[in-house]
Amino acid sequence: MSVLGLSSTMQGKTVALLLGVGALTCVSAQTFTRLGACPSLGCVFPPDQASFLAGQYFDVRLEVHAPVNGTEAYNAGVPDQNFTFCIQASDDGDCQDVTTFFSVHDTEVDTYNFTYYEDLFAQDDDTPSVVNVAAKTYRGLALYTPGSYKAKLKYYNDWETVANWYVREPTKEKAAKNVILFIGDGMTQSMITAARLIGHKSINGVYQSLMQMDQMEALGHQMTHSIDSFITDSANSATALYSGKKSTVNALNVYADSSKDPFDDPKFETIAELFRRRTGGPIGMVSTAFITDATPAALCAHTRARDELAAIAYEYLYGPSAYTPDIYWPTSCEGPDVIFGAGAEQFIPGDGSPNGTDFYKAFASEGYQVVYNNTELQAAGNDSKTLGIFCTSNLAKWIDRNVYPENLVGLGNSPSGDGTDALDQPGLKQMTLKAIDILQERSKANDSGWFMMSEAASIDKMMHVLDYDRALGELLELDDTIKATMQHLKDIGEYENTLIVVTADHGHGFDVYGSADTKYLAAQASDRKKRSAIGVYQNSGLSGYTVEADSLPNNATVVYGAEGPNFPVNWAPRYAYVPGVVAFPDHREAYGINKTGPRLPATEGTDGSYEVNPYDQPHGYIINGSLPTDEAQGVHSLTDVSVFANGPGSEAFRGVYNSIDIFFKIADALALGRTSEDY
Ligand SMILES: *[C@@H]1O[C@H](CO)[C@@H](O)[C@H](O)[C@H]1NC(C)=O
Ligand SMILES: *[C@@H]1O[C@H](CO)[C@@H](O)[C@H](O)[C@H]1NC(C)=O
Ligand SMILES: *[C@@H]1O[C@H](CO)[C@@H](O)[C@H](O)[C@H]1NC(C)=O
Ligand SMILES: *[C@@H]1O[C@H](CO)[C@@H](O)[C@H](O)[C@H]1NC(C)=O
Ligand SMILES: *[C@@H]1O[C@H](CO)[C@@H](O)[C@H](O)[C@H]1NC(C)=O
Ligand SMILES: *[C@@H]1O[C@H](CO)[C@@H](O)[C@H](O)[C@H]1NC(C)=O
Ligand SMILES: *[C@@H]1O[C@H](CO)[C@@H](O)[C@H](O)[C@H]1NC(C)=O
Ligand SMILES: *[C@@H]1O[C@H](CO)[C@@H](O)[C@H](O)[C@H]1NC(C)=O
Ligand SMILES: [Zn+2]
Repeated sequence: MSVLGLSSTMQGKTVALLLGVGALTCVSAQTFTRLGACPSLGCVFPPDQASFLAGQYFDVRLEVHAPVNGTEAYNAGVPDQNFTFCIQASDDGDCQDVTTFFSVHDTEVDTYNFTYYEDLFAQDDDTPSVVNVAAKTYRGLALYTPGSYKAKLKYYNDWETVANWYVREPTKEKAAKNVILFIGDGMTQSMITAARLIGHKSINGVYQSLMQMDQMEALGHQMTHSIDSFITDSANSATALYSGKKSTVNALNVYADSSKDPFDDPKFETIAELFRRRTGGPIGMVSTAFITDATPAALCAHTRARDELAAIAYEYLYGPSAYTPDIYWPTSCEGPDVIFGAGAEQFIPGDGSPNGTDFYKAFASEGYQVVYNNTELQAAGNDSKTLGIFCTSNLAKWIDRNVYPENLVGLGNSPSGDGTDALDQPGLKQMTLKAIDILQERSKANDSGWFMMSEAASIDKMMHVLDYDRALGELLELDDTIKATMQHLKDIGEYENTLIVVTADHGHGFDVYGSADTKYLAAQASDRKKRSAIGVYQNSGLSGYTVEADSLPNNATVVYGAEGPNFPVNWAPRYAYVPGVVAFPDHREAYGINKTGPRLPATEGTDGSYEVNPYDQPHGYIINGSLPTDEAQGVHSLTDVSVFANGPGSEAFRGVYNSIDIFFKIADALALGRTSEDY
């Protein structure tokens, strides 16, 4: 039992003030909850401990549950429809009914049922518990007065769920004009350390150069956990970073409610929506993933289900209320000025695009210039909104673009969907620098400044498939992008005005613990003997990646790949670093770079479970998995992640804090909070 798991249960118990006489047999279920962030039978969203930026929009959702069967069965499965909800603004004040407090009309009670499994036994036996629900939602509210509030749901006569809400005191002095938030998806400090080892030369223990991240003005750590699970995915972690609200795995800027519809869950406003609403300034999203993937999606989309990719593309262009016109939501990104990434599937007319339409055309008819390759990207004007989609799926990895360009051939991944290859793809650096030029030009009209997010998505994607070399290549590309960004900001005179924040959304349990003599490993016959090739402690030796190729003892394995300084000069030294992750499927390991493309460690066996891919690292030894056998890839891990900040407002990023604090720190640097409607 981890400390985090325990404390969330304890919090749950203090939150759920069950004053009823008939004591409820509280199920201690940790992993199969009836509804995350709702341990009692009365649910309040935003839930206990929610923090708000003054003036930030949010919805309120109330649910009363009556389990029909299972260990929580109550009230013969009849939910109380006469629940009340009031808000108390100070300890000695009245608790005012929600309609009075927010001056809104009351809403209708909605009733329905849902099912859930209480534990693995119930799942194996297929005996879900049935829960009847009575629910209400109030949309598009905001709190302006800083301080703490008690939001009280009263139900079943004398039961009460209290949610403590905090409206933080906003900063009124704007520190930064522009903000660029870099996300190294899945990036941990041990990956940064490993990237430094292979990309930067050291003489007798002294590095001759450092990562750009190593040289930022402020360093902090943030905690990545979800609201109802201690391991997060990229949707709810990005939600925390951009909206200041913890949520559930797969959720984008909503609290997950119990209804089926993935678009009706209670929303809250993102930093991108707020920046647009408060400043009118331009916003940008750049990613090496498909652009509707979770990390970019969390800037503008609102849904319980991150895999609703067509809807996410639709919400980028037209906003959430256009997608669900019967659900009121007062704000939107109003079409981000820059959208650069991959994922042509959502734009080419067909199965993946909104209603099967040509979504490139839809963007063009809203005034976007649309570009499809790096040549067009670099030639594009700086004054229009710009959509750049450079291939289907995810962008090619830095290693494949720069070291093994032949791997780009034969993929049939052109953004036009015509089945040709996307051979002229930009990297993170090319996209980010161009995005800055466009945002800068578009911010001139009202001197608004700009906000952008730039994501190195495939650090995570390559860690999932245990392709450590590609993951570190992506990380070095991110660092190179940060360095080039700082120089470019200096060149255009915006360096002193721009807050740069670099962080991750979660980690993978990666580290390096030695080196391997790959030649010796391949020559051994048995799996146990192959492991003798691993050198630990003094036998780990020195990095062969930064040694000049002609000084290597065995230059037959040399693979060049340097694009200027601070990338390895040799990606395949005989003595390779030995990495591992804590979470992996069955696989085979030989510690050499995979030259033919991203690795595929496990494949589906005849019984549907995942086994060693017989074609992967054929000279390696087998490592049995540490995951359930239905997992094909590694998974995310618990670790805190680093935060690096530079420029105006960067001091606020020092120390150890929660992921949600990143939102508040950025919002404060931009002075986006408002203590009244008209201030
Ligand atoms: C709700 O209250 C009304 C009177 O205010 C009562 O008639 C009704 O039976 C109550 N419903 C439930 C489900 O308790
Ligand atoms: C759940 O609701 C459906 C209708 O939406 C109904 O057909 C079904 O009987 C209900 N199940 C239970 C156990 O009440
Ligand atoms: C609850 O009732 C449903 C049928 O309405 C049944 O399928 C399910 O197995 C029951 N669950 C439990 C935990 O008894
Ligand atoms: C699809 O078309 C329907 C009806 O015209 C419209 O209401 C809906 O918003 C469209 N959805 C998308 C994703 O385009
Ligand atoms: C870039 O895209 C344009 C438009 O689709 C095309 O005409 C041009 O040939 C492409 N350039 C390269 C280098 O692929
Ligand atoms: C875009 O802005 C950059 C930086 O100011 C400039 O070098 C470039 O020429 C501009 N491009 C166009 C097409 O105006
Ligand atoms: C690279 O990965 C692919 C997919 O797993 C595999 O077929 C191939 O054998 C690998 N190559 C090496 C050198 O491990
Ligand atoms: C992997 O696990 C299987 C049992 O599932 C066992 O037979 C085999 O010896 C293990 N292999 C290694 C290399 O540990
Ligand atoms: Zn991931």
